[in-house]
Amino acid sequence: MLLQLNKIFKGYGDKGSSNYHPVIKGLSLSVEEGEKVAIAGPSGSGKTTLLNIAGALDKPDSGEVVFKGNELQDYSPKQLAMFRNSELGFIFQMHHLLPQCTLWENVLLPTIPFKKKANKVDIEWAGHLLKRVGIWEQRHRKPSELSGGECQRTAVVRALINRPQLLLADEPTGALDEENAENLTELLISLSNEEAVTMIVVTHSQALAGKMDKVYYLKNGVLS
Ligand SMILES: Nc1ncnc2c1ncn2[C@@H]1O[C@H](COP(=O)(O)OP(=O)(O)OP(=O)(O)O)[C@@H](O)[C@H]1O
Ligand SMILES: [Mg+2]
Repeated sequence: MLLQLNKIFKGYGDKGSSNYHPVIKGLSLSVEEGEKVAIAGPSGSGKTTLLNIAGALDKPDSGEVVFKGNELQDYSPKQLAMFRNSELGFIFQMHHLLPQCTLWENVLLPTIPFKKKANKVDIEWAGHLLKRVGIWEQRHRKPSELSGGECQRTAVVRALINRPQLLLADEPTGALDEENAENLTELLISLSNEEAVTMIVVTHSQALAGKMDKVYYLKNGVLS
């Protein structure tokens, strides 16, 4: 098993106070290596909250997140940073590209933290991926000079640049028109097959969900 969430509880606000808002309520999920999982559910049901917990961007109030047999709770801050940087790719609901950096700089940024500079292998891989998704020619432009679809594709490349084992994607086709959404869907599925990446994707798209191994529905704080 690559990732296991065991009896996760998570809410926002002060626990015990009247403004506490429980979101995830005893949720468990097991994802095998290489598996592709879709998560659907109404707006506000906690899908982004769940992905943030699975990717150690947020902590649960209780419950365990186990990655390759290790509980993330036991990781030091440095181990957590390394986990997020090298084993995990995250495609955010809003793509979160750095506006002051070019596309090329945005996709290479995650290669830097633990070695100061992108190496030759990273640069070749970035070039390969950018060509693969059709935005190589645009690599010296900034996000403000790119279309929504090009920004989303940049975010996909950035998420894959460190060859993660686990890719978490939060409505990656949400902001795209039908044609771009279809292209991105095809791209995510084929890249994850080629690279044997395990994927958890939050999506409302039937087309994307239909290509995954399992589809879960998040409602009332649990998956069904
Ligand atoms: N940082 C926060 N502080 C307080 N409440 C929050 C915070 N983040 C999310 N919430 C609340 O938690 C609930 C779940 O939010 P979340 O973003 O996980 O939903 P979602 O399923 O991803 O929704 P959407 O489909 O609209 O993206 C919502 O009611 C939201 O208002
Ligand atoms: Mg969300």
